[in-house]
Amino acid sequence: MRFDWRRRIALVTGLTLCGVVAAQAQENVAAAEEEKPYHITDDGTVDWPTFSGFRRYNSVCHTCHGPDGVGSTFAPALTESLKRLSYEQFFEIVVNGKQEVNTAVQKKMPAFGLDPNVMCYLDDIYAYLKARSDGAVGRGRPEKHADKPPEAAEAENACMGG
Ligand code: HEC
Repeated sequence: MRFDWRRRIALVTGLTLCGVVAAQAQENVAAAEEEKPYHITDDGTVDWPTFSGFRRYNSVCHTCHGPDGVGSTFAPALTESLKRLSYEQFFEIVVNGKQEVNTAVQKKMPAFGLDPNVMCYLDDIYAYLKARSDGAVGRGRPEKHADKPPEAAEAENACMGG
């Protein structure tokens, strides 16, 4: 039988495409099923991670990204960014930083990977920003929040090396 490379390439490409489409579909399902990282009760009480994230965001990130994640002339609105970034992408950028190339103005996202004040609270910050991005939490300090659970205090101590 003659070796028909054209058919072979078509076949391989077809299979690869199928794989990509299937993987994409799986990802979409996963994204849809992904549990929200925040919990807010009917009376507007936010869970501890969301409240903690509000405080941490507004002590470290707000200087560049603006209060409540709304953005500034210097850095993008994270309420918008989180509509497109996955948790993994968000995590990666905060750990390693990011620098826009080809801009006249130097705009740089610092790397926080070695900063426990950020890393120990990054899931909280993510929860808060995701809630803001979804419109589940408004601007300013959440009025009511759940108490800090003992597990959160323990995890915090362990992470901060206390
Ligand atoms: C010193 C200023 C500064 C601080 C502080 C800062 N950022 Fe940034 N950040 C930036 C700049 C500038 C960019 C845009 C960089 C680029 O696009 O190249 C950015 C980009 C990002 C992005 C990517 C946004 C996108 O749309 O792609 C994320 C996510 C992010 N920052 C999260 C954070 C978090 C979380 C904190 C707090 C722990 C933080 N940043 C603190 C300046 C800062």
